[in-house]
Amino acid sequence: MESNNKKIQIALPNGIELFIKREDLLHPIISGNKFRKLKYNIQEAKRLGHATLLTFGGAFSNHILAVAGAGAEFGFKTIGVIRGEELECKINENPTLAQAQELGMQFYFVSRAAYRDKEQPSFVSHLHEKYGNFYLVPEGGTNDFAIKGCEEILTDTDKEYFTHIICAVGTGGTISGLINSSSEKQQIIGFSSLKGAFLSEVIRNFVSKTNWSINDNYHFGGYGKVTDELIQFLNSFYSQTAIPLDPVYTGKMVFGILDWIEKGYFPPNAKILMIHTGGLQGIKGMNFALKNKNKEILQYDKD
Ligand SMILES: Cc1ncc(COP(=O)(O)O)c(C=O)c1O
Repeated sequence: MESNNKKIQIALPNGIELFIKREDLLHPIISGNKFRKLKYNIQEAKRLGHATLLTFGGAFSNHILAVAGAGAEFGFKTIGVIRGEELECKINENPTLAQAQELGMQFYFVSRAAYRDKEQPSFVSHLHEKYGNFYLVPEGGTNDFAIKGCEEILTDTDKEYFTHIICAVGTGGTISGLINSSSEKQQIIGFSSLKGAFLSEVIRNFVSKTNWSINDNYHFGGYGKVTDELIQFLNSFYSQTAIPLDPVYTGKMVFGILDWIEKGYFPPNAKILMIHTGGLQGIKGMNFALKNKNKEILQYDKD
């Protein structure tokens, strides 16, 4: 088995085997699916002769930090258009933005209304007037170059050995790459981190195979929302396996997969590979919010 696939050593019924692919360990800052998504975007930005990367994200965005890290590593200036004007005076209270700033990212804080229109040509022209020429990386990093990078997640052995490949889904780019590179006999399942069934439509634009499905029963109230049950589960999973999961994406996915196994939704002897897409940088920010509400916090952190 490939070295970054780790077997989960907990008792499972019906001969089921469960592995996790530690993509989170690919890079300390450009972690998990961000490494895959940015690889060909960086090559394209270089090919086109750009000196600046501009992208969009929310307060604790994994993607914002990854773009800041990629800029620092590959010699680009970076600009982050951030949702929420109120964050401008709170950079030092926000571990994601503080670290992105240290890596050289310049921020443009915009209202939620302006952020909703961020892909409108008029807003993009406004950004060009303000910042000149730049290579635009979409929110969440998902575009054709990102999907090409995500097609490199599965190795040939993975495509042979596993019956089910499972990842967390936000914008749909990661699962699209997995679907494109999977073998027809495999099932690719996405556990959605957001409420709403719109994701399947987005994914259909990027893939032609049909060996996939999206499950949206484990979003725990919606994007970025957590419950006491989820936090307790993540702490106990970490103490059993020493694998840290993030509370926004991979944690919800692993909770859902173990629940599915318990409910008998996988066939006997299923060989399941879950993808650890990173996101651990978000734990500090989540713990800050949980502490403020006097809630149980995650007992592990990246540092
Ligand atoms: C840690 C993590 N896992 C999974 C995802 C979901 O990936 P995608 O947006 O490609 O569906 C994201 C968001 O990009 C993420 O930050």
